[in-house]
Amino acid sequence: MSQKKILLTRRFPAIAAQMLSEAGFSVSTRQTDEPMMHDELLQKAASHNGLLCTLSDKINGDFIRQNAHLDVISQFAVGYDNIDIAEANSQGIPVGYTPDVLTDATADTAFGLMIATSRKMFYLHKSIIAGNWTYFKPNSNLGVELKSKTLGIFGLGRIGAEMAKRCKGAYNMKVIYHNRNRNIEAEKALGATYVSFEELLANSDVLSLHCALNEQTKGLFNQKVFEKMKPSAIFINTARGLIHNEADMIEALNNGKIWGAGLDVTNPEPMKPDNPLLRMENVCILPHIGSATVETRSEMAKLAAQNIIGLYNKQGMQHVVNPEVLK
Ligand code: DGY
Repeated sequence: MSQKKILLTRRFPAIAAQMLSEAGFSVSTRQTDEPMMHDELLQKAASHNGLLCTLSDKINGDFIRQNAHLDVISQFAVGYDNIDIAEANSQGIPVGYTPDVLTDATADTAFGLMIATSRKMFYLHKSIIAGNWTYFKPNSNLGVELKSKTLGIFGLGRIGAEMAKRCKGAYNMKVIYHNRNRNIEAEKALGATYVSFEELLANSDVLSLHCALNEQTKGLFNQKVFEKMKPSAIFINTARGLIHNEADMIEALNNGKIWGAGLDVTNPEPMKPDNPLLRMENVCILPHIGSATVETRSEMAKLAAQNIIGLYNKQGMQHVVNPEVLK
């Protein structure tokens, strides 16, 4: 086999390039964290056989048609909404991704945001920096408790199940969920109850999103939906920012339709520093760090590299979005 050329679209944990080099690939690695401009990506991909890419690389229909020669696209993420999978299918290009290894880190982020939001932690931290810590006030800075509350999971897959496990263990929360299909295994393991979307909205004290971004979920959490939630509800999104409508969320928070929000994902990303959400008392925002631990990012890099190696050495890709193209 002639030496295959793999393009790494940015600086990934070094283990990815190392594994690929050791497996005999010629590896082009970008030396900065900054994403490539789309034109540069298009141009570079033209002279490579495979791509190791991530969320903000726009692998759309045009890109794939212009790079139909690619043997593989290996995504460093569990989500792949930046990739036109239908076009990858048409061109017969397998798309790898990195589920499982980031489940705990992402569930920890959702769990942490839930606690931080319920106790206004980010806002209070900022108020100390602003010099507003004066004296002990029995009636101020009050959060809400989570003990025995109802956790609603929208999208009970691997990450949602881990979030539910944490909430049950720590706070004995009752777990309800809504999915396209029932998850009987998780129902048994977690004592989770399947409910309709309307029931999920009406009964969740904490509503945590763990679904994929797709045509059905894009913009789903809008004004109409927030209006159906409890005024005391905390909304958590560690999935994708495009699933909630930000203007509608701001309105819902300002008008007491929901109590608070903890977001690891926003729309757009990065969020602008003057965004009103950043100044709200019951809101905690993180810069899309769900999988950002040393251990998890290293495992993601290994899996993304292994997906490429496995394709060429015929061991097979461990995690592939569109296995049908491999047949
Ligand atoms: C993913 O993997 O989809 C996360 O959002 C990034 O870690």
